[in-house]
Order: sequence, then structure tokens, then C-alpha cells
Amino acid sequence: MKTEITLTINGKQRKALVEPRQSLADLLREDMRLTATHLGCEHGVCGACTILLNGEPARACIALAITLDGSEVRTLEGLQDDPLMGVLKQSFHEEHGLQCGFCTPGMLISSHDLLQRKKGLDEEQIRVAMSGNLCRCTGYQGIVRSIKAAADKWAEKMTASEEVAS
Ligand code: FES
Ligand code: FES
Repeated sequence: MKTEITLTINGKQRKALVEPRQSLADLLREDMRLTATHLGCEHGVCGACTILLNGEPARACIALAITLDGSEVRTLEGLQDDPLMGVLKQSFHEEHGLQCGFCTPGMLISSHDLLQRKKGLDEEQIRVAMSGNLCRCTGYQGIVRSIKAAADKWAEKMTASEEVAS
């Protein structure tokens, strides 16, 4: 039996009829066609399916859609015009932060959350903070470099806009 739920997805209210065991990842990918949310392990381990749930990073593969009535979900598609996400994408491009790209949406969502919360991160802190996102291709060097470069660029941008405002 299907149950109707209402979610705010990328700023828009959406109704959905969900099965009791349907994951948020399946709802996003199959019913909403939001395919930037990738599915890897489907066990909450790899981080490929990371989205923002009520503003916090969460694993869409182990979140049951039926339990999320009234929640707010943001996927990578919903951060298209976000300035920090723009800086991160550019850095991943310039610093070779991806190869096959399968892990990249989860990496971008997790690192976006990280850079919003923490400033002045060094390489070690980035590695620890990102340890819940797995990549099978890159060996992580390019990913860490990309996030560090984005953190530095973002800090410069913030300082410049504070100077203009003062
Ligand atoms: S697919 Fe969700 S954590 Fe791996
Ligand atoms: S770039 Fe292929 S899994 Fe990370």
C-alpha cells in the first residue's frame, strides 16, 4: 500500500506516493528524476547518495521516504546557483578531483557542508572530515587538493566582500 507524503525538494513542495520500504534515493532518482544523487553501496557506507536533509548531510539510500513527511531535501541539482558550490565545482575541475565521477555528487555535497561550517582547514582535517565519502578511482589526492583549493578561494572571496562592506 502506498502512502502520500509531502517534501520540499530543492525549494519546491512535492507530493509523492511511496511504498513502506522505498528509500529517499529511489524516490529522488526514479520518481523525481533527480539523478545527481548516485547509488553505490546502498548500505550507508560509501556516501555517493549524500544529500541535505533538513540542512544536514544524510545518506539517501538508508533514509526511508515514508518517515520524511514534511522534511526539506536538497540535492546537487538544487545547489546549481550556489556560489560556494560553483567554487567547489571549478576546483574539482582544475585540480583533477574526479575520474569516473560516480562519487562526485556526494563529495561535492559533503565538502560544501564542510566549507560552510569550518574555515582554515588543512589537508589532514579535510581527509578526516571527508572520510565518510569513498572514491574508487582517484586515490583521494586530487579530491583533497580540490577541497583545499576551494576552501582557500572561498576564504579570499569572503575576505574581499567583508572589505567592500566595511
Ligand atoms: S549508496 Fe548510500 S551510502 Fe552508499
Ligand atoms: S571518481 Fe570514480 S569513484 Fe570517485
